[in-house]
Amino acid sequence: MSVRRLDPVQPESFAFNRDNLSWAKATIKKYPEGKQASAVIPLLWRAQEQNKGWLPKPAMEYVGDMLGMSYIRVYEVATFYTMFQLSPVGKKAHIQVCGTTPCMLRGAEDLKKVCQHKIHHDPHHLSADGKFSWEEVECLGACVNAPMVQIWKDTYEDLTPESFEKLIDDIAAGHEVKPGPQNGRQFSAPEGKLTSLTDKSLYGRDRTYKRVEAAPPPPAPVAAASAAPKVEAPAKPVTIAETTPSKPKPAKVAAAKVVKEKPAEPRPELFKKPRTGKGDDLKLVWGVGPALEKMLNKMGIWHFDQIASWSAKELAWVDERLEGFKGRAKRDDWVKQAKKLAKGWRPDSAVGERPKK
Ligand code: FES
Repeated sequence: MSVRRLDPVQPESFAFNRDNLSWAKATIKKYPEGKQASAVIPLLWRAQEQNKGWLPKPAMEYVGDMLGMSYIRVYEVATFYTMFQLSPVGKKAHIQVCGTTPCMLRGAEDLKKVCQHKIHHDPHHLSADGKFSWEEVECLGACVNAPMVQIWKDTYEDLTPESFEKLIDDIAAGHEVKPGPQNGRQFSAPEGKLTSLTDKSLYGRDRTYKRVEAAPPPPAPVAAASAAPKVEAPAKPVTIAETTPSKPKPAKVAAAKVVKEKPAEPRPELFKKPRTGKGDDLKLVWGVGPALEKMLNKMGIWHFDQIASWSAKELAWVDERLEGFKGRAKRDDWVKQAKKLAKGWRPDSAVGERPKK
């Protein structure tokens, strides 16, 4: 990884063109008051695109002025992320070669040699015709298809020195190039023949797993051992992911036990619809957003007093059923919040008030 410094040769000034300026103003408005600095990355990126693929110092300062940021904060961002180019780059391609361990072990060094030979010995230098430049970067997130390079917004994977040279030649000649694996592999599927899930009967015509019907439920438990010298256990229900249906296992010859009735679940009181036309605004409970409110209503929970009356077991029953939000009800102490809300208390904010720990 090279040290990232600003280019010694900088333009006098930078300003967004008309289209980019109106885009930038609209983008800044997307952030809440006082948080405009969060727009720094999209604005720098747009400035880089306007400036032929690299980001000069005046552009960083221009963006800093637009966002009311001190220049050093903008320099920090621009010099940290390798997506920002600090020197002019090739007109046709700036090649980012991943040099992190998986790519390095799979031949990144050879790809770098191709760059040195075809473009320039050193990174961040233009080729003689000004069409190409290259650099080494850290992991670009396509390790399974290592080694790989990124050119502009696309990645080219499963490269060899030969296929990489051809890629550069094709780009230079203006030929269309196809991003993704360059060895015929489908996305990141295993290379070569399948070694698992090879049983064709597992797949339906649409190549999805075939559902295997569940076996019938087990018979009622036997009350006395003497009545059943040997009981054949029924087949276990088969799940979608299993490769072969389970074979029936012989039951133990020992005396069959009488199965005790499972205690009733500690289910809270639920209603099919609100008691009086409209349910309470459950979003006033801190941590409940529109999605959770919908989920609660679907479950049969509409009112603050319903929640306020939950025992610890009932709270756990609900928590267990909050798909994607499990544990939220206990974590945010919904019962305590609902008790206050049921008595008429209202928070200042429409999203409730964070409970004090
Ligand atoms: S190590 Fe090269 S893409 Fe991750």
